[in-house]
Amino acid sequence: MKPIKKITCIGAGYVGGPTMAVIAQKNPNIQVTVVDLNRARIAAWNDHDLNNLPVYEPGLDAVVNEARGRNLFFSTEVEKAIDEADMIFISVNTPTKTYGKGKGQAADLKFIELCARQIAAVAKEDKIVVEKSTLPVRTAEALKSILDNTGNGVNFQILSNPEFLAEGTAVTDLHNPDRVLIGGEDEQAIEALVQVYEAWVPRERILTTNLWSSELSKLVANAFLAQRVSSINAISELCEVTGANVDEVARAIGQDSRIGPKFLKASVGFGGSCFQKDILNLVYIARTYNLHAVADYWEQVIIMNDHQKTRFAEKIIQTMYNTVNGKHIAFLGWAFKKDTNDTRESAAIYVADHLLDEEAHVVVYDPKVSAEQIYKDLDYLGTRSPEDNRRLIKVVDNPYEALDAAHAVAVLTEWDEFKGYDWAKIKEGMKRPSFVFDGRKLLDRKELNRLGFAYYAIGE
Ligand code: NAD
Ligand code: UGA
Repeated sequence: MKPIKKITCIGAGYVGGPTMAVIAQKNPNIQVTVVDLNRARIAAWNDHDLNNLPVYEPGLDAVVNEARGRNLFFSTEVEKAIDEADMIFISVNTPTKTYGKGKGQAADLKFIELCARQIAAVAKEDKIVVEKSTLPVRTAEALKSILDNTGNGVNFQILSNPEFLAEGTAVTDLHNPDRVLIGGEDEQAIEALVQVYEAWVPRERILTTNLWSSELSKLVANAFLAQRVSSINAISELCEVTGANVDEVARAIGQDSRIGPKFLKASVGFGGSCFQKDILNLVYIARTYNLHAVADYWEQVIIMNDHQKTRFAEKIIQTMYNTVNGKHIAFLGWAFKKDTNDTRESAAIYVADHLLDEEAHVVVYDPKVSAEQIYKDLDYLGTRSPEDNRRLIKVVDNPYEALDAAHAVAVLTEWDEFKGYDWAKIKEGMKRPSFVFDGRKLLDRKELNRLGFAYYAIGE
């Protein structure tokens, strides 16, 4: 097989953008074009001011700056880019279905199918099509069928190459992956993709499997990671009633090399666009094969996570004398984790929604999330009218403004800057008693107690 000269990626989101930027950075001889239907997103990727890239990731600006205009291009000309490419990555969104069969659980594959039909319609030469999006096991079969039945008689090879980067550390994860996974049937196609990654990833970290193992491994990896968070969160509730401290328990068990220390940080609940979506998808797939015990087992990870978010909101209400009506609660953080501007499925949304139901007045500060996004997240839930959301929630771009005259502070995201605030000054400006509810176990309990705060943290 001839070496790959041109790559096109459909979908310029959190995965397509950073992944292709790194592939281009490390393969200066391959022309990489990232296309998207969303004109505003492409314009932002092309913005001269690297602060305006649509995805905030530490280090991404430098990578884009190095490759953009050299061999990395962002465009809305989808058909042209498909026509020119030897290899096409599909990196579009695969959200949970909101309608019809599998509503609320199955992955919605309409964007994937649209891509396949478009590739088939445009392609005049053989192409390798790479699934980069996270997909249900056996999607490659459907893709192949669409491509072969609607195409112009050209040959398509399908590969599965799921992405394991985490937001906030996307660039380091891409530069130094634990593994790259490539599933496929055709040795030559697999080797062509291996060569792209070999430009910077040691060969022994590039795993090759059959298509179905690769597709399924992605869902399973996310399920295992989320399961660890739900497991430690379940223990956090037990710690609160027994006097154990969840951080100490996590350290004690994490030192066991068989368990390991990572992903044992108790929190207000996991968020992000993928954990919930991918577990729901796994549950759905298990049910379609009538594996109900398997489905129930994994569903419990989500149930526990929902419980943790509700529990945190309830704790705030109970502690504040069973009413938050008209009380000013400052939210530090809205993103689903630090170092990202992504808010999808963030625990903050659900905690806020719960408190707004009780007519609390929430004032939010997040260093990277816009007011527009916060209102959009709440409106999307449909719990109350957009007018009510705007009446009850205020978004500010100065943390001290959020905290001034607050009855309580709730830490929803573990942004480092929160630790460095002048907590003595904050205490001065707050109502008394001054409550802090730390959903990330970020702040220094001893110091806050010394300053006179009533401090509550998950799992203590
Ligand atoms: P995203 O929503 O940020 O980006 C997807 C992009 O695809 C959007 O910009 C959308 O406009 C575009 N798109 C949709 N249909 C299109 C079409 N027909 N033609 C051109 N563009 C189209 O999504 P994301 O977070 O990048 O996730 C993409 C996939 O990667 C999902 O399957 C997700 O599960 C998976 N994934 C995400 C992450 C993550 O950290 N976000 C990590 C690993 C895997
Ligand atoms: C996760 C996986 O880590 C990636 O490998 C995967 O590629 C990605 O999903 C995906 O498929 O989208 P991401 O969601 O970006 O990455 O971020 P994580 O670091 O996994 O955090 C997910 C959520 O769990 C966050 O809300 C985080 O705060 C929470 N978390 C994580 C905890 O509460 N405790 C922990 O110990 C770890």
